[in-house]
Amino acid sequence: MKIGIRLTIALAVPVAALVALFGLLQERANRVRFQAEMLREGRTIARTVQLALQYALRDSQLQDVQQLADEITGYERVLGLRLLHPDGSPRYESASLRKYPAVPPRTLAEVLRTHRMAEIHLRFDRGPVVAYVVPLFGPSGSVLGVAEVLQLESFIEDEIRASRKEIAALSAVMIAAVAAILFLITRVGVERPIEELVRSFREVGKGEPSSPLTVHRGDEFGRLAEAYNAMCARLDETRKSLLAEQEERRRMEASLREAERMASIGRFAAGLAHEIGTPLNVISGRAEALLRKGGVGEPGERHLRVITMQIERIARIVRGMLDFARPRELCLVSTAPHEMLSKVLELMEPRFEQAGIRLETRVPAELPRIAADGDQLHEVFLNLATNAADAMPGGGVLGVTAERVERRRPEGGGESLPFLAVTFEDSGCGIRPEHVGRVFDPFFTTKEVGHGTGLGLSVSYAIVREHGGWIEVESEVGRGTRATVFIPLRPERVAPASPAAAPIS
Ligand SMILES: Nc1ncnc2c1ncn2[C@@H]1O[C@H](COP(=O)(O)OP(=O)(O)O)[C@@H](O)[C@H]1O
Ligand SMILES: [Mg+2]
Repeated sequence: MKIGIRLTIALAVPVAALVALFGLLQERANRVRFQAEMLREGRTIARTVQLALQYALRDSQLQDVQQLADEITGYERVLGLRLLHPDGSPRYESASLRKYPAVPPRTLAEVLRTHRMAEIHLRFDRGPVVAYVVPLFGPSGSVLGVAEVLQLESFIEDEIRASRKEIAALSAVMIAAVAAILFLITRVGVERPIEELVRSFREVGKGEPSSPLTVHRGDEFGRLAEAYNAMCARLDETRKSLLAEQEERRRMEASLREAERMASIGRFAAGLAHEIGTPLNVISGRAEALLRKGGVGEPGERHLRVITMQIERIARIVRGMLDFARPRELCLVSTAPHEMLSKVLELMEPRFEQAGIRLETRVPAELPRIAADGDQLHEVFLNLATNAADAMPGGGVLGVTAERVERRRPEGGGESLPFLAVTFEDSGCGIRPEHVGRVFDPFFTTKEVGHGTGLGLSVSYAIVREHGGWIEVESEVGRGTRATVFIPLRPERVAPASPAAAPIS
């Protein structure tokens, strides 16, 4: 059963009982009042009758007595009038009294003795009746007879019935009003806030973020809503921090797996480089010795030169592998991005000029400084510039921009943080969609044999990650490539040095 209905019943029942009690008391008081009124009236009538009859009897006007008896019958519920001799024998009685017995002898004797009015309550077939018995005196004070006035008592019952009806109607209206008011109060003051609370509980139970309850009351519900809102806020916070923790753990696990993978590639590369390095030195030493000695003849000398050139190539690759595998120690120094980029571009200038590449730089001098290992970041930018130049052998445009941006880390989770974004955008050949995901893989290259080691971007990525940032590459075949390096402006955590790291795929 609804709380509103229950409360209404719980309060309406005692109210109804109270109203009923009030009605009962009222009825009792009314009965007493009506009775007193009736007796007063009856006595007055009896007294008047007494005087009138005394005069009539003195003048022996029995005619007048009969007239009075007939006129008085029916007036104010008077049932009738009876005149008796002092010995109790009837002298005259109204026609209405004929079937009713006369006053009992005891009462008659009492009236004759005391000379005073007597009242007796009788019960006739028409209901309760009061008989007023008065003595009638002659001029000398002698008793001439006795008069009996009978008055119907039943009208009291009629009056009481009418007033009872009135009280019942009034009580019904009162109870209905009280119930309606209670119902409204409980509906607005109790049920609504509870329904709102329940709705919010359900939402929270389903795991939805709860909308706060509106608190605009100072009562218990207001306090309940306040406490509930505070609880929901704490719940939301806990949920958020739990999600963030989960995300952080997922990120850590992924980067750990990646670091392990790269570490094993690094160890493999280092071992391989070492194993190749020693025999390579021997071969190159022997070839150079033969060349120095001379007398090998023209075709032989040419072959020896090819051998040394190819060995130089292998040595370059081996150096790259060692570079990739080398554990890096970062030496972070506050660096102005503008100065570092200027140096890189200055170094590349002859190559750009030769290939007919136009440079468009947008690197404001007032950019915030970054915490960077100058040499290593220099290498990153040099790699990006070289790749751009490689992609535009017939010339083109290279846009270099640097700006402050707010970004979330690509691994997801965490809030937006300020980063320095350095972009190299070329109008070169672009990268085929199926290759875009592999450009950071160690030894991935699309360049001709002898032109690329496939280590430039993987080494760059490792360096940038160690600075707490990442690299994004977007490309469209035939239109160009955009590579962006993100370096944190508020480095809160610098990744531990690993042999190399690549983006998590
Ligand atoms: N700006 C660019 N335009 C087109 N392709 C690019 C660009 N940068 C990188 N690539 C692609 O990514 C590959 C890997 O680059 P990188 O790691 O620097 O190795 P490498 O330059 O030795 O090939 C390149 O071989 C090339 O296919
Ligand atoms: Mg390269």
